[in-house]
Parts: sequence; structure tokens; C-alpha cells
Amino acid sequence: MEENLCFDMVASMLRLGRKPRRGQCNPSYSFSRREALVRTLNDIDHCDSAFSHISNCCFEIPLPYRMTTTVGVTAALAGSPSQRSTGALFSLANRVALVTGGHRGIGLEIALGFAEAGAVVYCLDLPSSPDESWRMVQSWAASLPEPNSGRLEYVSGDVTDQKAMWEVVEKIVEKEGRIDVCMANAGIVHVAECLEYPAEDFKRVMDVNVSGVLFTAQAAGQQMERLGIPGSIIMTASMSGTITNPNQHSSAYNISKSAVLQLARSMACELAPKGIRVNTISPGYIYTDMTRSILDTQPQPASLKEKLGAQNPMGRFGRPDELRGAALWLASDGATFCTGSDIKVDGGQCAW
Ligand SMILES: NC(=O)c1ccc[n+]([C@@H]2O[C@H](COP(=O)([O-])OP(=O)(O)OC[C@H]3O[C@@H](n4cnc5c(N)ncnc54)[C@H](O)[C@@H]3O)[C@@H](O)[C@H]2O)c1
Repeated sequence: MEENLCFDMVASMLRLGRKPRRGQCNPSYSFSRREALVRTLNDIDHCDSAFSHISNCCFEIPLPYRMTTTVGVTAALAGSPSQRSTGALFSLANRVALVTGGHRGIGLEIALGFAEAGAVVYCLDLPSSPDESWRMVQSWAASLPEPNSGRLEYVSGDVTDQKAMWEVVEKIVEKEGRIDVCMANAGIVHVAECLEYPAEDFKRVMDVNVSGVLFTAQAAGQQMERLGIPGSIIMTASMSGTITNPNQHSSAYNISKSAVLQLARSMACELAPKGIRVNTISPGYIYTDMTRSILDTQPQPASLKEKLGAQNPMGRFGRPDELRGAALWLASDGATFCTGSDIKVDGGQCAW
């Protein structure tokens, strides 16, 4: 307990740019706590003095994390090697991620992207155990050579159950020692006329798409705060949170995605002082089981797909893998100054 208090205090002091005193640092911190402090140092500008102080009295800080201001042009002008190459900015090696709705579609694609960047990724979804396709993706990830050798794990859960979600992430942290990235991605769609939208269906969409995203972000954010980890929370919103899809009657879905955009902005402002970033990705039309379920209700799914694709300047549907880059960037140290932002990946649909 005393060590917990001491750790929290040291992490907060570093984030606020204050130097911890010699007696306040505990040289017997576990490896994961040392890593968390090191990452805190990594994410603050004024880390040079705090670094020398903490390394004198606490423990030795691994070189790649030290004084990260000596990168890019600063390194070039100092004639010293850059302490972090541009490529290394996007590595998720030794990091732990949670992706909800990670059994298929966009969630599984992004989970694999994180694993390819070196992370241990927990895919949370409704089925009690993953299907054959998910297991094939897991084995494929396990066969990748270093440094792309992350790992995929599966955990069954329902994002609408707040207590269970908090417990799931507590257990992940017990096992892995940390949580760095949270992709609150699980979502559902329901099409109905706005004047007759059934109350039960409306509530269900809000439950999964809004409350579920909040509960997921809470679960990860609580642990990031407790461990002093400057983590990244990413929420899957939608272009439908900003515009109304022409001729699609899905008001509850659109409202829920607007709520996700505002939830992310609110949480970003509240959590920035704790070093935790919160952003959204807004996909346009992406071809997955979700969109297939809408297309298949039409007499000519292929022609509707073509029509919907033609609504954006690029004239096509996107693929789930085309969201990996934005998600990885937001998850990584490439985006340490980005919070409260929405990244649209929609073939330009919102630009029209
Ligand atoms: N496909 C698109 O065109 C598109 C566009 C914009 C935004 N999105 C958003 O992207 C996200 C992923 O969509 P997708 O296209 O991959 O859909 P999908 O239906 O293929 O995948 C969604 C996953 O979420 C899971 N899920 C649903 N309810 C859950 C719950 N209560 N708890 C845990 N998991 C639950 C489902 O089981 C499923 O595996 C959703 O939030 C969706 O709204 C999709």
C-alpha cells in the first residue's frame, strides 16, 4: 500500500515537472512500475532534470527512453545520434492493448495491426470462445518474426456490463503488469424510421455504442491512472457522428456516434493532466459483416454497395485494413501531442 502511494506520488510529480526527493523514490519498484515511470519521463518535455534526479536516486533508466527531446532536428544539430528513429515511434513492443469487438471486422483487423507492431492484444467480444477464423489469425500473429511478434489473446465480455468491464481490465493488468492502449470499438447498427423508432431498439444502440464505449474507456483509464501509464484510449466513432448518410435511416446509430465524439473530447480534457490521451477514429463505409447485414436486406446488395461507395470522392467502400495506420498512429508514441481529435478515414465523404 505504501509503495502504491509512493509510486502514484512520484508519477504525478514527474508529470507536473517537479522533482521527486530522494526518499520519495522507491528503489524496489517492480519492473512494470519502473517501465511506467520511464514512459512518464518519455512523455514530458522537461524530463532532463527529472531524469537525472530519478536515475540517481531510484534506478537506471534504459537508454532508448532517456531525454527523448534529442531526436530529429535537435539530434541533427547536436551532431548526435537520434535517440528515437521515426520508425521506432510506431513500435508497440512491450505494450499491452485491449480491443473491444475484436472477434471480427474492424476490431480484429486493428488488433492484428497492434500485434504486428509488437503489442500483446486482448480481443474482447460477446462469443464465449473465438471461432476458427479468429484462431487462424491468432496463430498467424504468433508465427511473425521479431520485432513484429506481438500476441493475440481472447476474452469473452459484454461492454454494456460496467462492473465486468472494470474487472476484465483489472485481470489483464494482474497478468500482464500493464495496459497501454484501449480501442473501444464494439458497436451495433439498427435501421428504423425516426418517427417510429422503437424505444427498446433505441436503448440497445445507446447501451452498446455509448455506455459500452464509456465503460471500456473507464476500465482502461482507471488502470492507466493507477499505474501512472501515459496510455492511449481510442474510440471508434463514425462519419455518421458528423454527417447523416444519404438515404440511410439510422438516427439512433448517428446520435450514438455523435455522443462518442463528444465523450472522447470530454475525456481527453479531463484525462490530459494524468498523461492519458483520448481520440476517435471516424470510418466511412467499410465492408464488414455490419455493412453486409444492411446490404443483404436489399433486393440488389451489389448495386446498393456501388451506390453507397459512389457517395465519397474516392468512389468506393474502404477495407478494414485501411484503418490500421490511423489506429496504430494514435496508439503509438508518434501521437504523443494528439488528444481530443477525430481522425476521419472515409474516402473523403465528409469533405463533400
Ligand atoms: N463497417 C463500417 O462501415 C463502419 C463505419 C463506421 C463505423 N463503424 C464502427 O466500427 C466498429 C466496428 O464495426 P464493424 O464494421 O467491424 O462491425 P462488426 O459487426 O463486424 O463487428 C462488431 C463487433 O462488436 C461486437 N459487439 C457487439 N456488441 C457487443 C457487446 N455488447 N460487447 C462486446 N462486443 C460487442 C460484435 O460481436 C462484433 O464482433 C463499430 O463501432 C461500428 O459502429 C463501422
